[in-house]
Amino acid sequence: MIPSTEPATVLVTGGAGFIGSHTCVELLARDYEVVVVDDHSNSSPGAIDQVQKLAGRPLTFYRADLRDRAALDAVFEAHPIDAVIHFAAKKAVGESMRIPLDYFDINIGGTTSLLRSMHAHGVHQLVFSSSCSIYGSSAKVPLAEDDPAAPTNPYARSKWICEQLLADACARYPELAVIALRYFNPVGAHPSGKLGEDPLGLPNNVMPYLMQVAVGRLPELPVFGNDYPTPDGTCVRDYIHVTDVADGHRLAVEHLADEPGLRVFNLGTGTGVSVLELVKAFGEACGRPIPYRIEGRRPGDVARLIADSTRVEREWGWHTTQDLAAMCGDAWRFQKLNPHGYGNLSSSEEL
Ligand SMILES: NC(=O)c1ccc[n+]([C@@H]2O[C@H](COP(=O)([O-])OP(=O)(O)OC[C@H]3O[C@@H](n4cnc5c(N)ncnc54)[C@H](O)[C@@H]3O)[C@@H](O)[C@H]2O)c1
Repeated sequence: MIPSTEPATVLVTGGAGFIGSHTCVELLARDYEVVVVDDHSNSSPGAIDQVQKLAGRPLTFYRADLRDRAALDAVFEAHPIDAVIHFAAKKAVGESMRIPLDYFDINIGGTTSLLRSMHAHGVHQLVFSSSCSIYGSSAKVPLAEDDPAAPTNPYARSKWICEQLLADACARYPELAVIALRYFNPVGAHPSGKLGEDPLGLPNNVMPYLMQVAVGRLPELPVFGNDYPTPDGTCVRDYIHVTDVADGHRLAVEHLADEPGLRVFNLGTGTGVSVLELVKAFGEACGRPIPYRIEGRRPGDVARLIADSTRVEREWGWHTTQDLAAMCGDAWRFQKLNPHGYGNLSSSEEL
């Protein structure tokens, strides 16, 4: 039962993407009205179709670029939006080293465009997708929210700048309530196998790359660097199941009205897993070893990022429910059932 102070209509930017689509299923299951804005620059209409099938309820979809203020204003005018979850962004560290201006334009420009539309339409509640990458090369294990930010690449810097501008906006507009969720490495898929990670083009992140190697779409996984100061020399990350991340967003929406201002929470498991350990676990999930080759380090990467999530556990009672075997098993199920991703499933615009 949702208390009356909670938002009823939630705008989800980037709702056709990996984490956004899983969060939409969670929100629809909790009786929220969901409006999605996504330009499909890294997703397919098929993801929206699957969300609605899984939830058994429709959402309203708009294909638009967040930086298109007129299109965004039209969405706010058409719906009584109570709160926004802002996922839409570019997210690949390596790519951000090659095309930093795109990252600044889309990630920072998209966020300021959204804030302007929210402000113009009297919407004061926002959940923002931040990232563990803002901690950068900090050697501390695990990382807590008060540890200093030290971004090492344009992607991480764009997220850190967004957090700072959100803090400034909250200082100027005291009615604004913003929760920034710094998630570590979301992987996995919906347990049904019907919803998962299906990036367009060559995957930029390790898990979707692994999935496409396992299903034969790609020959082998490049592992960037085996000379990091970690037990097996490969980068260590804190992988977290996407359904646990989606649940964190549902809780964040429920807690937006608790207090105004900017609040920051980590979402991670607290367990570090190296790239080679992930390759092994995925091989066990799909029943055969995954071919990989060691390459040089990738600019912008850091050795180890592991979460201290005690703040969100203490304040909201959030905790992870899925282990690495479930993350790999669910990701493999999605890839096996959808070897070519969502393919050319029908368009779901303006349902
Ligand atoms: N996946 C991760 O490992 C991870 C980790 C930490 C933080 N994050 C953050 O979480 C958010 C969601 O990540 P994801 O993994 O679901 O990514 P994703 O690429 O699957 O989803 C992002 C969605 O936003 C859309 N989009 C991008 N630019 C847009 C624009 N200008 N206007 C409208 N739509 C646009 C894309 O088409 C896509 O559907 C991102 O902000 C990302 O930075 C992701």
